[in-house]
Amino acid sequence: MKRIITTVIALMLMTTAMAQKTICVSTEKTDLVMQVAPNGRLYQTYLGTPLADKSEYDRLPWNVYAASDGSVCTRGHEVYATSGNEEFFEPAFAMTHADGNMTTYLYYKSHEQKSIEGGTETIIRLADNKYPVDVVLHYVAYEKENVIKAWSTITHREKRAVKLWRYASTMLYLKANDFYLTSFHSDWAREGQPFSEKLNPGKKVIDSKLGSRAAEMTEPFFQLGIGEEAMEDMGQVMLGTVGWTGNFQFTFEIDNVGALRIIPAINPYASEYSLKAGEVFTTPEFVFTLSNNGIGEASRDIHDWARRYQLNMGMEDRLTLLNNWENTGFDFDQKSLAELMKDAKDLGVDMFLLDDGWFANKYPRKDDHAGLGDWEATASKLPDGIPGMVRDAKAAGVKFGIWVEPEMVNPKSELFEKHPEWVIMQPNRDTYYYRNQLVLDLSNPEVQDYVFGVIDRIMTENPDVAYFKWDCNSPITNIYSPYLKDEQGHLYIDHVRGVYNVFSRVKAKYPNLPMMLCSGGGARMDYEALKYFSEFWCSDNTDPYERLYIQWSISKFFPAKAMGSHVTNWNKKASVKFRTDVCSSCKLGFDIDLKSLSKDEYSFLQQAVANYHRLKNVILDGDQYRLISPYEKNHCALNYVSKDKKQAVLFAYDLHPRYREPQVAVKLKGLDAKKTYLVKEINLENGKSSAAYCNGKTYSGSYLMNIGLDVLTAEEGTSHVFELIQQ
Ligand code: DGJ
Repeated sequence: MKRIITTVIALMLMTTAMAQKTICVSTEKTDLVMQVAPNGRLYQTYLGTPLADKSEYDRLPWNVYAASDGSVCTRGHEVYATSGNEEFFEPAFAMTHADGNMTTYLYYKSHEQKSIEGGTETIIRLADNKYPVDVVLHYVAYEKENVIKAWSTITHREKRAVKLWRYASTMLYLKANDFYLTSFHSDWAREGQPFSEKLNPGKKVIDSKLGSRAAEMTEPFFQLGIGEEAMEDMGQVMLGTVGWTGNFQFTFEIDNVGALRIIPAINPYASEYSLKAGEVFTTPEFVFTLSNNGIGEASRDIHDWARRYQLNMGMEDRLTLLNNWENTGFDFDQKSLAELMKDAKDLGVDMFLLDDGWFANKYPRKDDHAGLGDWEATASKLPDGIPGMVRDAKAAGVKFGIWVEPEMVNPKSELFEKHPEWVIMQPNRDTYYYRNQLVLDLSNPEVQDYVFGVIDRIMTENPDVAYFKWDCNSPITNIYSPYLKDEQGHLYIDHVRGVYNVFSRVKAKYPNLPMMLCSGGGARMDYEALKYFSEFWCSDNTDPYERLYIQWSISKFFPAKAMGSHVTNWNKKASVKFRTDVCSSCKLGFDIDLKSLSKDEYSFLQQAVANYHRLKNVILDGDQYRLISPYEKNHCALNYVSKDKKQAVLFAYDLHPRYREPQVAVKLKGLDAKKTYLVKEINLENGKSSAAYCNGKTYSGSYLMNIGLDVLTAEEGTSHVFELIQQ
């Protein structure tokens, strides 16, 4: 009897407390609900579709475990689970206090919600009751775009430094019978390879330990099917990504009540962080969206959010370009570049982009063995330096962009001779070189100044430089910072913070300067770096067949506007049209010897560039619908629709069809069913449409979406591009 009365009283107290302290982070399609329990700690009670009556959230129990003795159980899904208490799974946060105690209990203190650009920020303050440790949880909910960003800040007032050894951005719990995780494996020229699995009890960890070229082996994003495998237009799905251009970690763990715990974080590997009193440790932002209508809707929400609020110059136009890397490699001079600039103009693109190989004098950059660090134009190759190239580009009528890799150094360079102490390198072991180079120690503020100075000097001396391609070809090797001395546990974290310090100074001083983020292909694709960059290079793999797979995966998380795609000579067996049509579905560029093309191929390119310029507002700013996956079929198709649904562009590709394989019509998506559209095939070879049956005809949106167009073929390497104009 006594136990029953105690339980009833406890339940009454709980209800009162919950009614007072339910915190809801809301978008139009998602609610993340938290409650302060009678024990004063904060628990997640719900994550999913908003309930019609939000007061019902007060009915949700915070304690999710059954107490074996029938009493009120004091265990729940703690919002920022800590170590050393009754939380038996992987914690979000762990520290060793100044006195050596390794436990932390966080209690709710206060919270506030305020409007910020595009959304609402929720700030929740937690603190330990025995140690002066404060954790602030931040959430920004972008209501319209249905994206939530979450991160944390940690600080303390203990007498001496504390050691942090877990510092997650946030922690989320999902409830369903089954979870299907797709993570994206990667390597040079093999970016974004999806692998899916059903999660079972136990932990699945996806992480990187590469330091700088951080996403070379694993991408910092994932897709999660909730209840069933994620599908393009059906089912509940989460897309998540962490904004950290360094070692990241996602932990997925199913607990004993069947809930999935998701912990996105900086990878704590070799990174015990000593935090002084008063210092603030800020974690990276975890960005996620939940959809009940499959991956396609989730992607479109992320694309909208990225363009509006995260991607640098996200709402502005992009420049088409001619790059020289795949064409000339290191073999060029002032005269040959001036010719290429004229070629760029004749082709019709906006800019010429000079790649690697233009710098260093004592150890000129003839190949990848020397010169990184010495950012003076090689006088023997380019006697008039960058001013000469800007001049020649102007004379040709195109803008001028330039490649840099300022975070790196070749041991064969004047910079290395002058400042060996600026380099991450072991003092007492053999040195390992990745692409013959080493990583500068960006944890050192002097080095940050130097790297910022590389860009600043080029821009100050040549204000007409219109664009940078910022490369990063080596992971951090020989893990030792001469600057950090006995705080080596800070290296991986402070290095990345140093990189951001440089990026943000560049953006502050040159806010209208578009820049491409590149890392030996696509080893840097994350939403923190993209605050400073207008686009990224998805992969050095420009074989159009392979590229379709890579672009397919990456498009789930990033808008086409951010995805650089260049027509090159990789896989010459593929027609120039096929190669160009593949790149035209992203941010188009060229990296090819135009002189090697036939007259017909060249005039095709000129026509395709003009088409792209006319339609890039639809491709780069419209809604993307992935229609046929190359991972599932021997074909690929996608379409873009302008926000007002007046224009659309359809891309259809035949990769490796089987003999006499039946071809199913491509059904478009996102059109206005009630309106009529004129279908025009564009990017024509020799001016002839190969889809004559529908070219120039009008169809209702309803027809196009339900019956579709018969535009796939059994011919390997065939592609079609259609412009649709609402009548
Ligand atoms: C790697 C990049 O991905 C390439 O596009 C090119 O810029 C080379 N680096 C130059 O070294």
